[in-house]
Amino acid sequence: MAGDGRPVCVFDSGLGGLTVVRELMEAMPGEDIIYLGDSARVPYGTKSLQTVQRFALEDASFLMRHSPKLLVVACNTASAAAIDILRAKLDMPVIDVIRPGAQAAVACTDGPIGVIATEATIASGAYVHAIAELAPERQVCSAACPLLVPIVEEGRRDDDPIVLHVLGDYLGRLQRFRPGALILGCTHYPLLSGAIAKLMGPETELISSGRAAADRAKEFLDSQPASSRTGGAGTLKCFTTGAPERFAHLGQRFLGRKIDNVAFVGTDELETR
Ligand code: DGL
Repeated sequence: MAGDGRPVCVFDSGLGGLTVVRELMEAMPGEDIIYLGDSARVPYGTKSLQTVQRFALEDASFLMRHSPKLLVVACNTASAAAIDILRAKLDMPVIDVIRPGAQAAVACTDGPIGVIATEATIASGAYVHAIAELAPERQVCSAACPLLVPIVEEGRRDDDPIVLHVLGDYLGRLQRFRPGALILGCTHYPLLSGAIAKLMGPETELISSGRAAADRAKEFLDSQPASSRTGGAGTLKCFTTGAPERFAHLGQRFLGRKIDNVAFVGTDELETR
């Protein structure tokens, strides 16, 4: 049976979603991926839900021009703000990071669940609602960690004293809550997972919402007849609304490999059509 060569399209507010692309490439190495990072307007996590909804619709509308077979919303903030609108407006399967992340956490522990994410994601209550739908009796403790995105973007690593100090402050309440699982509800946090694991201790399993979304995407494609691409390794093509050289340089850390194919797209070209 012939495969489906259409790409899987992914968007995020900037570089962070490349941690999700990394998981997608691992789960589905044969797929072509087209990624849009809206670096000119990052961060989304400090903006209003209405603004994030508008940006998410523009990002998705740009990617629709590439005729994807599946859209992955890699950004937790965009997933929290816009998933219902995106699903209502787009005639295509859309996978977010919130529900798969919540599902993975509920499956991994019978105990309480912690969530860390951007201010906007926490304020939306999206993770709390997703967990409540799956396991209504479950206790949840959430914490917004606004400094972590700029800290990661600045290239600071797990063992940096500043990272440990900031994390120590954000995680204090969660440490006392003793969750069985802690959802890393932001694209940037997997890069700090070593320090977060150390602070939370061995009783707390860290859940990467990006990995959970990649598993969900693979499951979805596997469930559709002939929806996977056949033939060798897939390709990655990136678009950024920021500076392509900066994107390629800084993005390597998020993707875990070199990025060679980056093109610029202006925010004025993203408009909904
Ligand atoms: N990508 C965002 C998220 O996962 C983090 C960066 C931002 O605030 O835009 O929520």
